Amino acid sequence: MKMERPTPAGLEPIETASRDELQALQLQRMQWSLQHAYDNVPHYRAKYDAAGVHPRDLKQLSDLAKFPFTTKADLRETYPYGMFAVPMREVVRVHASSGTTGKPTVVGYTKNDIAMWGNVMARSMRAAGATADDIILNSYGYGLFTGGLGAHYGGEALGATVIPMSGGQTEKQVQLIRDFLPTVLLCTPSYALTIADELLRQGMQPNKTTLRIGLFGAEPWTNEMRREIEARLGIDAVDLYGLSEVLGPGVACECVETKDGPHIWEDHFYPEVIDPETGAVLPDGADGELVFTSLTKEALPIIRYRTRDLTRLLPGTARPMRRMVKITGRSDDMLIIRGVNVFPTQIEEVLLKNPKLCAQYQIQVSREGHMDELDVYVEVKPELSDKLSSMQRDEIGRDAAHHIKALIGVTSKVHVVETDKIERTLVGKAKRVIDKRPK
Ligand code: DLL
Repeated sequence: MKMERPTPAGLEPIETASRDELQALQLQRMQWSLQHAYDNVPHYRAKYDAAGVHPRDLKQLSDLAKFPFTTKADLRETYPYGMFAVPMREVVRVHASSGTTGKPTVVGYTKNDIAMWGNVMARSMRAAGATADDIILNSYGYGLFTGGLGAHYGGEALGATVIPMSGGQTEKQVQLIRDFLPTVLLCTPSYALTIADELLRQGMQPNKTTLRIGLFGAEPWTNEMRREIEARLGIDAVDLYGLSEVLGPGVACECVETKDGPHIWEDHFYPEVIDPETGAVLPDGADGELVFTSLTKEALPIIRYRTRDLTRLLPGTARPMRRMVKITGRSDDMLIIRGVNVFPTQIEEVLLKNPKLCAQYQIQVSREGHMDELDVYVEVKPELSDKLSSMQRDEIGRDAAHHIKALIGVTSKVHVVETDKIERTLVGKAKRVIDKRPK
């Protein structure tokens, strides 16, 4: 079915192409990408030879399922540069993700890769409603993390003005908002709230700045949190997704006119959703683990990379590319508390149903004897911080715990605390969970 939709000015031709055109391009690029990986990365060649598959076996997109997965372990085994498919003299940049355990994962880019990244990041910003007239406050961390430089090049490719602020130094962020008059904010969603708190602390009305759009990502956040950010900062907040192994930010982004889950830039990244237990490819619409194959990357072709992110694929709306449902969690941040599977975002969703609470929260799990204990610490909205008695806060906490039990099925103790009692993320991703249980 051909969708009737206006063609907003400035879209790339592929953003208005038909599904057939898109799939023809994907097949051609996928064949190239598999061959490129096989010819130039001994690790891929050995794996495919062992599995008895060859790039020429890919005759249609669904043949991709014949090829083995790639995981973080593959990147660790070949640390640092073993998965690169081009000589180092063609690699113009590396990034690395720290990871909580073991060696970092190193990723590399050729000049063409950097240009493609700038292009898909610019496309993401345009989808969020940004134009060359915007001034972007880029508060993603600069350095080995892909957020800062990835977004930076995108802003420049769009022709916007980029303020390369990086993360942290919250007082200075506010000073720059006040003096440099940015219209677009890029940072993690949790940090956006920290900036809102600081604006208030410095006597400004957070929803009366020049900011009009935010592209938030790098960590899970719910639609409830979106509403809070939009109301407090008076902006449109869209979801920006990506991961370093596949590129960095800009693998997928929401369109501001629909805000219905990030559109995956499928002309460069081919998505599959699999059953995380069996590895079987699931039909669109089914819940599972997201897997990506890069279609155009030169330095680090990545074939069937298991992201651990849980979502489902949906048809495109504002663009022909498919969407992913907002990520609710990673298979590795799922907590099992007294046998019940719990994602931090489920707790966030329940907490934010209460208009007196805000999205500064932390979950602590401990073990008393043989029993898991779940303690949730959450702050009241800053404007209420000194207005609620401890009895009123206890009452809100009991009510939230009741809803957590009713909706998620676990017993918890919810501690409602004042503003700033929960440690802020200064750089990077919020630490939502402290698990004190013995391993
Ligand atoms: O976080 C890249 C990025 C930077 C994305 C800035 C968006 C904005 P990594 O450090 O490799 O890369 O972490 C990737 O973060 O697998 C998800 O689990 C999570 N993640 C990234 N974006 C989102 C999002 C960057 N919008 C990992 N929603 C991914 C939920 C996200 N989780």
